[in-house]
Amino acid sequence: MAELSETWSRVTQNLRERLGGPAPSVASVGSEHAERLAEIHATAFAKPWSAPEFEAFLTNSAVQLDGLFLGRSPHPFGFVVTRCVVDEAEILSVALAPEARGRGHSRALLARHLGNLAEAGIRRVHLEVEEGNRPALALYRRLGFSQTGYREGYYARPDGTRANALSMSLVLPP
Ligand SMILES: CC(C)(COP(=O)(O)OP(=O)(O)OC[C@H]1O[C@@H](n2cnc3c(N)ncnc32)[C@H](O)[C@@H]1OP(=O)(O)O)[C@@H](O)C(=O)NCCC(=O)NCCS
Repeated sequence: MAELSETWSRVTQNLRERLGGPAPSVASVGSEHAERLAEIHATAFAKPWSAPEFEAFLTNSAVQLDGLFLGRSPHPFGFVVTRCVVDEAEILSVALAPEARGRGHSRALLARHLGNLAEAGIRRVHLEVEEGNRPALALYRRLGFSQTGYREGYYARPDGTRANALSMSLVLPP
């Protein structure tokens, strides 16, 4: 927990210094944001999730959905959605709007989200990531995730080919 909260403070401080504006914030999102979440998802994945699908996540008590907010905009610029079962969790999706990528915001978002999961009693977090997704792999490794498996042909690409995935997990401190 201490490490995650240090990461969060360091990242937000760096961003404040670099951007000279309000620091990004991470907060839970409501159904009023479902359309925006679906828009962001569609920029990132071949099979987009609809606004009603996001609304269903938002009313599911086993799902934790946090949004990234930048500046004074009331709209999220990114999200992470995780399903929890007892003390384990699976990150189902993470995405930032294209204009928010490449500026370190994803680390702030994930660090805060993992802290929230730890506070909710989650002890291990799992995820799958395409083996060629370098920003996502760098993000997860930086936060301490390590590889636990390899899934050949796990993802279907829009062109009909398939991509391999790494399974990763992270143990959260109690
Ligand atoms: C994955 C995603 C959330 C990462 O967010 P981001 O804003 O692009 O990444 P950040 O700027 O926070 O950087 C995260 C890490 O990736 C690295 N990185 C960023 N772009 C990179 C690139 N093109 N190639 C290699 N590494 C890259 C950064 O250097 C950083 O690593 P570091 O902490 O070791 O320096 C974002 O790219 C995204 O929304 N992608 C589309 C959806 C997606 O792929 N989600 C993950 C599914 S598993």
